[in-house]
Amino acid sequence: MLNLSTPSLVPPVQFNPKIPQSPNSRFTNPCQLKPASNNICKSECRTERGIEFQTGDTFFRQESATGRDLGVLAASLYKKSKGELRVLDALCGCGIRSLRYLVGAEADFVWANDANDEYRRIISENLSRVVWRGLEDERRWMVTHFDANRVMAECYLQREFFDFIDVDSFGSDSSFLRSSMNALKLNGLLYVTCTDGYTSGGHRPCQSLSAYGAYVRPMPYSNEVGLRMLIGGAVREASVLGYRVTPLFSYYSYHGPVFRVMLQLSRGKLVDHRHYGFIGYCHSCGNSQAFSWDELGHMSCPCGDSKVSKSLVVSGPLWTGPLHDAAYVTQMLNLAEQWGWVGNVEGAELEKLLKQMVDESDPKLSFGYIKLDEVASRAKINSPPLRIMMSAMHQEGYVASRSHISPNVIKTNCPMAVCMRIAKKLQDSCTGE
Ligand SMILES: C[S@@+](CC[C@H](N)C(=O)[O-])C[C@H]1O[C@@H](n2cnc3c(N)ncnc32)[C@H](O)[C@@H]1O
Ligand SMILES: [Zn+2]
Repeated sequence: MLNLSTPSLVPPVQFNPKIPQSPNSRFTNPCQLKPASNNICKSECRTERGIEFQTGDTFFRQESATGRDLGVLAASLYKKSKGELRVLDALCGCGIRSLRYLVGAEADFVWANDANDEYRRIISENLSRVVWRGLEDERRWMVTHFDANRVMAECYLQREFFDFIDVDSFGSDSSFLRSSMNALKLNGLLYVTCTDGYTSGGHRPCQSLSAYGAYVRPMPYSNEVGLRMLIGGAVREASVLGYRVTPLFSYYSYHGPVFRVMLQLSRGKLVDHRHYGFIGYCHSCGNSQAFSWDELGHMSCPCGDSKVSKSLVVSGPLWTGPLHDAAYVTQMLNLAEQWGWVGNVEGAELEKLLKQMVDESDPKLSFGYIKLDEVASRAKINSPPLRIMMSAMHQEGYVASRSHISPNVIKTNCPMAVCMRIAKKLQDSCTGE
C-alpha cells in the first residue's frame, strides 16, 4: 500500500505539457481507446456507450448505466464551461466511471480509488486503454486503494481540490459527505449516493437521524423522500463548513434502490430555511404540507378541528425545494441529443427521464406525488388512466406532471379531495352515469 501522507501521492495538477493543445479540441474528442486486448476479453468484457471494459470479480451493476450517463453529461457540461476537469472517482469499482469521465467528458485527470486492492489489475487495464491525442498518457489517471474518506481528507490537507467528485457508496453511509465537500473546488460538482431504501422508507428513523439528521417516517412518496433525505443531509453538512449545495438533478432508480443527486457547491450558508424543513402527510385527508422550523410544536392538518392531528405523519428536516434545475437538465438533454444518446429508439428511456425531470421542476409543484391507486381507493372507484387524469387536472387549472420515480403517480398542486372528484367524474363519464 502507498503511504497517503507523502506529498508524492498528490496527483499531477498540471496538464501534461508534452502534449500539444489542439485548437479544435472543442470539436473533436482528443481521447480514443486502444482496442481491448484478447487478454482483457478473456475475463468478462462489456461495452457501455461504445466503450469496452472488463469487470472481473469487481462490484458492477449494468443497471447503473443511466446514473453513469447522467454523471458523464454533467461532467462534460462542466468541462465545456470551465475548460478544465479533474475528477475523483472515490469508490470506483472496476473503474468504468473513471474511464467514461476520461473518454466521454474529456477529463484532464481522473483519480480512480477503490478500497479493495484486488481490483487493481482490472482498473489499471481498463484505464490503460485511454489514448490522448495519439499518445498513451498514464499521467491522466491514477489508481489507489484507500478508504475514500482518507483520500479526500488527504486532498483537503494538501489543498488539492477536484472539480468533480463521484461518491458511489453503499447504504446510508453519509460519512463521505463532509470529506468530499472539503476536497471539492468551489462551484465544483459532487455526485452523491444512498442505496438504503429501508431507511428512506421510514422503517429505521433512528438510522436516518444519525446518517442524515432527519427523522424519516413512512410516507406514500417515500422514494422522493429518499432523495430529499440525501439532499437535506448534504445541505446540513455543507452548512457546517459555511457552504451551500444546490441540486442540479436528482435521480431515483428502483434497481438497488439507488438515490443519486448531483450537487453544486457554493460559498455561503443557506440564506433562509425555506427549502429545508418538515414534510407532513395526513392519512385522514391524503394531503401533504410543509412545516417550517417555527411551526414546530404547532403541527396539525386543517382537515381536523383538534390541535393535534393523530393522522399526521411528519418527517424531517428534509430538502423541500426543487429536485432539479430545469435549465441545467435541459442543457444535459441538448448535449445528449448532440451525442446521439436521445432522439432515437435506443435513447427513448434516457430522453423520457430527462424530459420528466424538466417537467417535475415546475416551480408551482412542491414535494411529493399522489398515487392514482390511493385516489382510486379513497374514491372507491377503479384507478383512472394517468394521461386522462392529468389532462382533466390541467383543464381545471392545476399543475400536473409525471414523476420519474414511479409510473403511476402524479406530481400536482391539486388537493386529494379534488383529485377524487375529478377521478369520479371521469369514471361516471365512462360508464355513462
Ligand atoms: C457501488 S460500488 C462502485 C461501483 C462503480 N462506481 C460502478 O459504477 O460500477 C462501491 C465500491 O466501493 C468500494 N468501497 C467500499 N467502501 C469503500 C471505502 N470506504 N473507500 C473506498 N472504496 C470503498 C467497494 O469495493 C466497491 O467497489
Ligand atoms: Zn388532513
